[in-house]
Amino acid sequence: MSMEIETIFNSTMCATAIATIFEIGLFDALHENDTVNVKDFCDLHNVRYTPVFSLLQVLEGFDIVNSSDPSILSKGQAFSEAYSSKGYFLWLINGYGNMWQNLPGLVKNEHDNGDLMLRNGKYIAQAGRDYGAQFVDSYFRELLAEVPFKVAADLGCGSAERLRQLANNNPDFVGIGIDINPGAIKLARQSVETANLQDRIMVVHDDISHLAHQPKFSEVEVIFCFFMGHDLWPRSNCIRTFRRIREVFPQAKRFLLSDTYRSDLPPSPKTPIFTLGFEVSHAVMDQYIPSVAEWMEVFSESGWACVNQRDIGIPFSTIFDLR
Ligand SMILES: C[S@@+](CC[C@H](N)C(=O)[O-])C[C@H]1O[C@@H](n2cnc3c(N)ncnc32)[C@H](O)[C@@H]1O
Repeated sequence: MSMEIETIFNSTMCATAIATIFEIGLFDALHENDTVNVKDFCDLHNVRYTPVFSLLQVLEGFDIVNSSDPSILSKGQAFSEAYSSKGYFLWLINGYGNMWQNLPGLVKNEHDNGDLMLRNGKYIAQAGRDYGAQFVDSYFRELLAEVPFKVAADLGCGSAERLRQLANNNPDFVGIGIDINPGAIKLARQSVETANLQDRIMVVHDDISHLAHQPKFSEVEVIFCFFMGHDLWPRSNCIRTFRRIREVFPQAKRFLLSDTYRSDLPPSPKTPIFTLGFEVSHAVMDQYIPSVAEWMEVFSESGWACVNQRDIGIPFSTIFDLR
């Protein structure tokens, strides 16, 4: 398929604009109101009018907003689609921006890639909260409701949003969130404290691959793990970790593992959203993305029985129900 080269360039600017307009809260303001006064918004949120207006004009070019009169910014034809996908853009542009910026160095063999690879854990967690709420959580809630429980652990919890929601909906619920990234841990602790849930949600900074047992872990009945399972590969490491999870959480009877699997599709302009960013970023990190069949082998080798598999709203993504 041929494509005009300027469309590729301008789409990159539009993606950047979506991520920033989301991050400063202007997308939400416009979602909640028919119109927004951009100058008032900038004053209220302490952001600079000139660059914000310039980004809005880019969005207008893609029919996402109407900004010809900035005192009455309104939604364009493509607003609702851009609004629901905004988390993917924040993930790509701000979560992985450092990687794209350093890509020429990262693809070279002789380069020390350590520092160039830095992902922004805060933005990745914030983005995951946004697209998770829309494309994951209804499937998750439905599956979770099948078996009653009080104590759960979220492995790679990111912002800890899932635990927070469970605690809000059930006064008896106790949660443990574990994450390796300091930015995600900071965001998770902040949001738990803001919701005044620190007595019922514990946030632990640790690596799931080498998780140290804590007394509280013995009470966990359900484990879940969203969009980090592939981080536990290669295969042998994943099998070892999945066996260890059973030792560290001896009372856990259920493990809901949700992840994006390998699409095995040739890239094209029509590849579903998220997929190319996910597959290329993980190739840069030398991070293997397993297929569904490869996951099934790992479950059976590590002693987990997969009793159900439910596809969710993110392309090539599913929830495995392990017992
Ligand atoms: C894509 S984010 C998903 C966050 C959250 N589960 C969600 O669905 O929004 C993956 C998370 O897993 C965390 N993570 C990756 N490898 C990890 C490990 N070995 N131990 C603990 N956390 C890890 C990352 O820091 C990140 O917060």
